[in-house]
Amino acid sequence: MDTRPIGVFDSGVGGLTVVKQVMKVMPHENIVYFGDTARVPYGSKSKDAVTKYSLQNVRFLKTKNVKAIIVACNTASSNSLSAMRDATDTPIFGVVVPGVEAAVHATKNNRVGIIGTAATIRSGAYETLIRKQNPNIEVFSKACPLFVPLAEEGWTDNEIARLTAQNYLAEIVAQGIDTVVLGCTHYPLLKRCIGTAVGDSIKLVDPAKATAQQVKTFLAERNGQNTENKEGVRRFYLSDTTNTFAFLCQKALKYPYQAEIIDIEKY
Ligand code: DGL
Repeated sequence: MDTRPIGVFDSGVGGLTVVKQVMKVMPHENIVYFGDTARVPYGSKSKDAVTKYSLQNVRFLKTKNVKAIIVACNTASSNSLSAMRDATDTPIFGVVVPGVEAAVHATKNNRVGIIGTAATIRSGAYETLIRKQNPNIEVFSKACPLFVPLAEEGWTDNEIARLTAQNYLAEIVAQGIDTVVLGCTHYPLLKRCIGTAVGDSIKLVDPAKATAQQVKTFLAERNGQNTENKEGVRRFYLSDTTNTFAFLCQKALKYPYQAEIIDIEKY
């Protein structure tokens, strides 16, 4: 048994969609969340910038004595995972591999859409890994950068969000896909709009569930789970204030958690 917390980070509030699944699958685990709200979005940054930020985030979480780190950010997972793994002995879990496995499992017609930030799509990570698992699958990718500011603003289900989703998604829907991967952890916050834009016949894959399950299995195999008979403690840190954090916590986690502000440049 290991009562140390699990560290989770994202560029902002998107990673809360992963925290939600971690809380569901491992309710006794303590969680330390860091949202890099001072530097969001990551998706429009270079690989070098995303890697620098990711390494700082890992160093910050390590000061909280975490037993594992979940990179609840597709942009960091697809661009900087190996740099993070090289920099620390703490087990690091990304969201891309679980997303790939869920997508390969979900598609019936072997036509899969990937939506994510510009940096995630540019990395080609999803496409490469999906094709490695099944070369018969055709992948259609589309960067949807405006979804992140919409989610950070809490504009997740209004006319602007609906029109944005229709505009971005028409192109990949026209390719006859039967599955679309929400390849950015902010996107599940816009799930309703995205679902309406793609229609009922297309499955939405959120890698968060499979990620949480992967971490649970890893900890269980090493006797590293927190088996205390009480609900885990969740602590939240941000690199800058945001007016919408408590609201989005309420929306994603059903509780308006408060966050502490830290200076991430110190790490
Ligand atoms: N939520 C992150 C992702 O999964 C980052 C979005 C951003 O900051 O652009 O890619």
